[in-house]
Amino acid sequence: TQSHSEISRVKNLNKLQIGKHEVESWYFSPYPAEYAHLPILYLCEFCLLYYPSSTQLRRHRTKCTLLHPPGNEIYRHDNISFFEIDGRRQRTWCRNLCLISKCFLDHKTLYYDVDPFMYYCMTVKDEYGCHLIGYFSKEKESTEGYNVACILTLPQHQRKGYGRLLIEFSYELSKRENKLGSPEKPLSDLGLLGYRAYWQEKIVELLLDSEDEISLDEVAHRTSITHGDIMHTCQAMQMIKYYKGTHILHLTDAVLEQHQKTMGKQRQSINSNAVRWKPPT
Ligand code: ACO
Ligand code: ZN
Repeated sequence: TQSHSEISRVKNLNKLQIGKHEVESWYFSPYPAEYAHLPILYLCEFCLLYYPSSTQLRRHRTKCTLLHPPGNEIYRHDNISFFEIDGRRQRTWCRNLCLISKCFLDHKTLYYDVDPFMYYCMTVKDEYGCHLIGYFSKEKESTEGYNVACILTLPQHQRKGYGRLLIEFSYELSKRENKLGSPEKPLSDLGLLGYRAYWQEKIVELLLDSEDEISLDEVAHRTSITHGDIMHTCQAMQMIKYYKGTHILHLTDAVLEQHQKTMGKQRQSINSNAVRWKPPT
């Protein structure tokens, strides 16, 4: 038999309306009890406030002036922007972001304590504003060397290469901090798929670009991916040779073939010249 607290953690919301999208919730999220079990919860896609009816949302929309996430725009290229939001300065907005994100994350305890985190929100711009696509959070100080705490592409935008952009951006920040970084563990199944694909692509790209054999240190230094994550990725792809006392990474035909397929997909990447960011001091 389930205890009361277990029952109350079962998926509570049905659907969320975010902008023009209606999305099914995947997991429990701690919205206030009076909002749970509504057929649809109506969100303002810019300020992330939530309403039990479309009428109430419409009334709010006539007053809401926000057209992008409430922080500094630290990246803009084509129609993609990143906004940096300090959890301590934008507590309500960040808590509301966590409530949305918990709908799609099962394994994380999302705390109401947003103060220790920065939130990096990716938007796509059109004539109506900068629409939230996804985000990652990052501890202001991570003793474990994590460069991402939680990462999410909103379900209506998944599988279009946006997760890859979020991940790439998180490593761009680590490069500017002169640090190696890794996502917080445990990863979800989808998180692992997304990261594996990214790590593999970056490592293979570097190996293809270099004439000589390249060491694990070199790969870590140039990508900001940790030795552990590189090792795991390369082991899974059988790309590690032990040579004269060090680990050498080398390409196999199978890996090359897979890489060519990925490259055929023509996806966007982060333009590092468009990043306007220095590590907070
Ligand atoms: N099935 C198989 N492979 C997948 C899938 C999937 N459902 N999703 C991503 N991948 C792999 C693929 O190789 C994909 O490349 P492809 O589409 O060319 O085959 C690659 O990852 C990149 O996919 P993107 O489209 O860039 O990723 P997406 O925008 O869908 O975002 C993410 C990935 C962020 C993990 C998303 O699935 C998500 O938000 N999931 C729910 C929340 C979650 O689990 N977050 C991670 C938790 S762990 C943590 O926070 C540290
Ligand atoms: Zn609003």
